[in-house]
Amino acid sequence: MYSGNPEKKDRAICNFTYAERWETEPISHSKIPENMHDPRAAYQIIHDELNMDGNPSLNLASFVTTWMEPEAEKLMVEAANKNYIDQDEYPQTKIIHDRVITMMSDLFNAPAPDKAAGAATIGSSEAIMLALLAHKWNWKNRRKKEGKDYSKPNVVFGADVHSCWEKFALYFDVEMKIAPMEKGKYTLTVEDVKERIDENTIAVGVVLGTTFTGQVDDIKGINEYLIDVNKKNGWNIPIHVDGASGGFIAPFVYPEVECDFRLECVKSINISNHKFGLVYPGMGTVLFREKKCIPKDLVFDINYLGGSMLNYSLNFSKASSQVLLQYYNFIRLGRKGYSKIMNNIMKNAVYLEKKLLELGFFEILTDTKYLPVVALKLKDTSKYTVFDISDELRKKGWIVPAYTLPPNADEIAVLRVVVKENFSRDMSEIFVNDIKTALKKLKAATPLQENKKTSDTGKKTKPHHVC
Ligand SMILES: Cc1ncc(COP(=O)(O)O)c(C=O)c1O
Repeated sequence: MYSGNPEKKDRAICNFTYAERWETEPISHSKIPENMHDPRAAYQIIHDELNMDGNPSLNLASFVTTWMEPEAEKLMVEAANKNYIDQDEYPQTKIIHDRVITMMSDLFNAPAPDKAAGAATIGSSEAIMLALLAHKWNWKNRRKKEGKDYSKPNVVFGADVHSCWEKFALYFDVEMKIAPMEKGKYTLTVEDVKERIDENTIAVGVVLGTTFTGQVDDIKGINEYLIDVNKKNGWNIPIHVDGASGGFIAPFVYPEVECDFRLECVKSINISNHKFGLVYPGMGTVLFREKKCIPKDLVFDINYLGGSMLNYSLNFSKASSQVLLQYYNFIRLGRKGYSKIMNNIMKNAVYLEKKLLELGFFEILTDTKYLPVVALKLKDTSKYTVFDISDELRKKGWIVPAYTLPPNADEIAVLRVVVKENFSRDMSEIFVNDIKTALKKLKAATPLQENKKTSDTGKKTKPHHVC
């Protein structure tokens, strides 16, 4: 029985699980503690708190890698103390980075991969910003040279893009010309581009696997149209391909579809290596068709880390490990390994889609041809919505986002599942059973209140926070 100071007794009663072996004082959540703490206590307290997070293996919302091999994790820890930007100190890491860029340029059919330019980034958002900035600068320099006004740059894309495109336009002061979605049309078409481009267009953005439905914009058609219109008008409007999600699927699942540097107007591509590159977050890549696509004024020559180093990035310091993880996967899996995994993921997505459709409650918005994504809408929303299903699944640990599509298709609400490497057939079976249980429960529950019934959606969210 406790017999000391009563104040201490109170503290002792509300100790931390496990950590009370080493620690008996509360730790502030608002101020840096005055005193040091036992490392085991510090670890255990944080570890326990993180148990409140969702389970990454059940996170069907995110495209981002949630499993890697132990050897990769070992490499990651070994490189944890190396700052990627210290290239003079860690030259071999930089050499490996350059190899990764060359391999990826080759994968995306750059005309001369060993001469292609690119950089590893924190993710696709940074990669897209870097690519579009280069295109803005090239457009501006050309206009300057021609003695023309360069105060009104615009960028053309569809409402099917990720929010980072809008971020770019907002942060870097470029007008957005957005082609809306319509019911039944969720991608960017040649017609959409035709209606929006002009002499001030810095680039047309196309998506290889959209965040919303996993579909692909008409990249080839838009390329043909731009070749023509550029020639006629003396313009030089490039295409930027957002391959954040589809970048590692296309070359292995549908290599015959031209959506990369094989198309003349494609001057830059971004890929999220932390998605189907199968690398832990955060790594993306920006690739340019050739070195001259990057304006010289944007490249910094940095000499204060010892030696001279050319740098084109938004971030400065960052982890080295992600580049090494990508290199590990390239060596470990090779093209054959990637092909096997990507085709398996696609098959699992088709299987899941079939099983979910067999339940009879859903309509499909995707065709699981281009991305292992199953986006479903409810046939009947009079009793419950996809948001209710999402909430029910969460109780079982599954993280499945429900959201409304962008304008003008925002009356449609969908439930989206991303099938990753660690989502096996077994997991599909368990998941489908849990959906069945959720539907049964919701059917038996009280119908929606009047105010909730008024729309297809019940509540509105966008998956912009989901990647
Ligand atoms: C099509 C698309 N573009 C860009 C992004 C942003 O990617 P990142 O999270 O790597 O910055 C995402 C994220 O899901 C995406 O799906």
